[in-house]
Amino acid sequence: MKITLSIIKADIGAIGGHMAPSARLVETVRRHVLETSGDLLLDSYLSYTGDDIAMLLTHNRGTADKAVHQLAWDALMAGTEVARAQGLYGAGQDLVQEAFSANVRGMGPAVAEMEIDERPNEPFLFFAADKTDPGAYNLPLYLAFADPMNTPGLILSQKLAQGFRFVIMDVTHTACDRVIELVAPEELYDIAALLRDPQRYVVESVWSRTSGEQAAVVSTSRLRDIAGKHTGKDDPVLLIRTQMHFPSTGELLAPFQVGHFVAGGLRGSHNMPLMPCPLNTPVSYFDGPPTVTCAAFACHEGRLTEPVDAFAHPFWDSVRERTAAKAMEIRRQGFFGSAMLPMAQLEYTGVAERIEQLRERFQNRTE
Ligand code: 13P
Ligand code: 13P
Ligand code: MG
Ligand code: MG
Ligand code: MG
Ligand code: MG
Repeated sequence: MKITLSIIKADIGAIGGHMAPSARLVETVRRHVLETSGDLLLDSYLSYTGDDIAMLLTHNRGTADKAVHQLAWDALMAGTEVARAQGLYGAGQDLVQEAFSANVRGMGPAVAEMEIDERPNEPFLFFAADKTDPGAYNLPLYLAFADPMNTPGLILSQKLAQGFRFVIMDVTHTACDRVIELVAPEELYDIAALLRDPQRYVVESVWSRTSGEQAAVVSTSRLRDIAGKHTGKDDPVLLIRTQMHFPSTGELLAPFQVGHFVAGGLRGSHNMPLMPCPLNTPVSYFDGPPTVTCAAFACHEGRLTEPVDAFAHPFWDSVRERTAAKAMEIRRQGFFGSAMLPMAQLEYTGVAERIEQLRERFQNRTE
């Protein structure tokens, strides 16, 4: 059976600045989806990560479907009304375009969708991150799909033996989507050369070379390009199928123990480690740290089981402790050097304007 898994995610307002949506907001969006979807959806699930709420919608209408996206957009609009009524900060923050036309791509919400031939059993993982951008998934995807040190399945299982195809996007190219396809393991060094620059080159999708099936899809939209100004971080979502022709769940979760440094945190302008947290975790320290959650599902004919909260397991407590220590360590150097993002990647323009004002006070010393 062909089904579509659609994740649509947005920040439409939060309590205490950028911490978490209110219970009423979340409930309003959930109820809107349930009560107005009619026959459109097979199932749905809603969670939040920091100040971003993400809906997982299953259906059989394909990707970028107008009716499904309209439903999601209307649910986010209904949530925004609650955000306004409750005085939440940044009400409607990510709904940067006004009128819905064909689908929500390019309107602000992050989208990750896959149309799949549902397997007899269909395990998959739904990741959502806050206070960071889509390049945050470069390292985990590289490790999980291309490195046998992380993924023993690459040598243990014939189903993974041919490796994976990476579709990588140059997100600085705004006129149209600009992508390259590279295969692992043959082109591993080319993949590495691009992915080391997560601000520019972002994994968009990953495909099995054995079966041809799609394994993963990342939301690659950049709010700054859509809105033309700073509107917070993109806070990307990631959908990955697991087992059989794909890495196992354990192999896909393992890279998140690194707590790697990503762009984001406070004012979207810092380098901070990514902390794996339970579902529905608000952010806190330094408007972060950048947070990632993971809901694991099984699904049959598009109907979802309840999620398993992948990062709620006690193992991740020690990862969180180490990540917190890394966060505090880099924060000790404040705005200096690599603690803050380079000028071109800053979400705020204030510092550039300040330096511009000082320009005429510079003098050439001639002797
Ligand atoms: P189980 O025997 O618990 O199903 O383990 C299967 C496995 O190989 C997990 O990686
Ligand atoms: P969000 O994109 O999560 O709203 O982040 C805004 C921000 O800059 C927090 O300091
Ligand atoms: Mg926000
Ligand atoms: Mg956010
Ligand atoms: Mg954001
Ligand atoms: Mg088992």
